[in-house]
Amino acid sequence: MSDATTGSVTPATSGLLLVLAHPALERSRANRALAKAAKSVSGVTFKDLYESYPDFVVDIETEQAALVAHDVVALQFPLFWYSTPSLLKEWLDIVWLHGFAYGEDGEALKGKKLFVACTTGGSAKAYHAHGYNRFSLDEFLRPLEQTAHLCGMEWETPFVVHGASVKDDAALKSEAERYKARIASLLPARAEA
Ligand SMILES: Cc1cc2nc3c(=O)[nH]c(=O)nc-3n(C[C@H](O)[C@H](O)[C@H](O)COP(=O)(O)O)c2cc1C
Repeated sequence: MSDATTGSVTPATSGLLLVLAHPALERSRANRALAKAAKSVSGVTFKDLYESYPDFVVDIETEQAALVAHDVVALQFPLFWYSTPSLLKEWLDIVWLHGFAYGEDGEALKGKKLFVACTTGGSAKAYHAHGYNRFSLDEFLRPLEQTAHLCGMEWETPFVVHGASVKDDAALKSEAERYKARIASLLPARAEA
C-alpha cells in the first residue's frame, strides 16, 4: 500500500502469527492438541520456536519480518514457573527491540493484537488469592499485558487451559475446538474477492 503524502510503502499485513513455545512438544498433550487445531484455521501462520531455534540463536530479521507481516500475534505456551518457557522470553528479549517494538520510531507492532494462549498444570482454583498459587493467572500474565501496552498493541483476553496435565482426551478435544473458534474470531474479516 502506498502513502500518497510521503510516497513511502507500507507492507500489507494479514492473518495471525501463532508462536508456539514448548521445549518438549513430543511429550506434550495439551499444547500439541491446541496447536494442531489452530494450525487448521485459514490465515494462521505457525511457528514452533523450539523447532526453529533448538540452539536458542534466534534470527532477529526473520522474526521481525514475520511480526510485521501479521495483524495478530498469538503466543502459545505451557506456564513454566509462573512465566513463559525460556526460549519465548529470549525471543521477546532480542526480537522486540527498542526502535522496532517500542521507543522512538519503534512502531512496528502498533495497532496489532497480542493474544496469549497458556496451559497450566495447576487447577483454576489454585490460581486465586486464597488458592495454592495465591495470584490469578491474569496477574502472572501482567508482564506480557504491559509489553503489549508499551508497544501500542491491543491486549486480547487470554485463552487458558487450567489443569492441562489431568485433562482426558475428550476434555482436551473440546478445549482444542474452543481454541480453534477463538483463533478464528481474532482473524481480521477477509475482503470478499
Ligand atoms: C519446568 C516446568 C515448570 C512448570 N511450572 C508451572 C507453573 O508455574 N504453574 C503451573 O500451573 N504449571 C507448571 N508446570 C506444568 C505445565 O504448565 C503443564 O505440564 C503444561 O501446561 C501441560 O501442557 P502440555 O501437555 O502441552 O505439556 C510446569 C512444568 C514444567 C516442566
